[in-house]
Amino acid sequence: MKRVFSGIQPTGAIHLGNYLGAVKNWVAYQQDYENIFCIVNSHAITIAQNPDTLREKTYELAMILLACGIDPKKSHLFIQSEIDEHTALSWILDCNIAMGEMSRMTQFKDKSQKNPKNINVGLFNYPALMAADILLYQAELVPVGEDQKQHLELTRNVAERFNRDFGECFKIPEALIPPIGARVMGLDNPETKMSKSANGANHAIFLQDSADEIMKKFKKATTDSQGVIAFDKNRAGIYNLLGIYEAFSKKSKDEIEKHFANKGYGDLKREVAEIVIESLRPIQERIQQLKNDRSYVMDVLKDGAFRAREIAAKTYREVKDRIGLV
Ligand code: TRP
Repeated sequence: MKRVFSGIQPTGAIHLGNYLGAVKNWVAYQQDYENIFCIVNSHAITIAQNPDTLREKTYELAMILLACGIDPKKSHLFIQSEIDEHTALSWILDCNIAMGEMSRMTQFKDKSQKNPKNINVGLFNYPALMAADILLYQAELVPVGEDQKQHLELTRNVAERFNRDFGECFKIPEALIPPIGARVMGLDNPETKMSKSANGANHAIFLQDSADEIMKKFKKATTDSQGVIAFDKNRAGIYNLLGIYEAFSKKSKDEIEKHFANKGYGDLKREVAEIVIESLRPIQERIQQLKNDRSYVMDVLKDGAFRAREIAAKTYREVKDRIGLV
């Protein structure tokens, strides 16, 4: 089985966009691949974090991933900072990446513009740590969205260069393009991707929102004045609502258009809200159970780290050896 490495930051709440665009696919990948799921808390500190909140969010994210269907019997789930080899390899990669190459990363430019008061060296080096995450595990596939493609490209480049200069050491990873192209947009502004940092109260549906909150947010979703319910990319609001319905209903686009043929936007919003509420309910119940069974979650993470560490340590030992670090 091919090995997949996925990383997710423990910052902010998980929303419908993260779920449909990433986590739901990760759960599905467990059928076909060997999966390594890493909660990348060391990446999170490139932006200022409150220590207690970061710790809580880290464990909470583990619970959410388990509740969504990540199965610790099939996959490795662990916390990045528990394995020192990530930051150690990152240093070695730093010494093999040119300033110019790193300076081309557009996410650094975006993030430093958004946080002009905290442009730290870690934020600049972020892609080297991400490369280390992937290369340590000899991952063949990495699910990445548009915003991370450039980082994966850098990972491939540094790995190829390292292999050439010091001998075959790393597998060259490839992007894993998700089977279902669910791209969830903000409910208040369907022209922009749903994001955890947008501040509109009706922008995002969070996995832990109550049924009332979900219904209220969908009712306020931005639509248009055409009154026709059809999959039309030019009408972003309706297209987004139908896309969410499609992702949960498992019906075809044709069936969905027929289903809504004689209905109004009010019905559409209510039915989308209902299917989201119903689909999230079992996940929410499971999150609650896991919150009451913290020791189980801790055991899963400990076991995940134990197995991941073996793989990471082997690669790191070989890398050190190749470059003459004693
Ligand atoms: N940078 C990724 C993001 O913000 C998270 C991440 C860190 C990651 N390390 C990774 C993703 C390794 C894939 C592989 O989404």
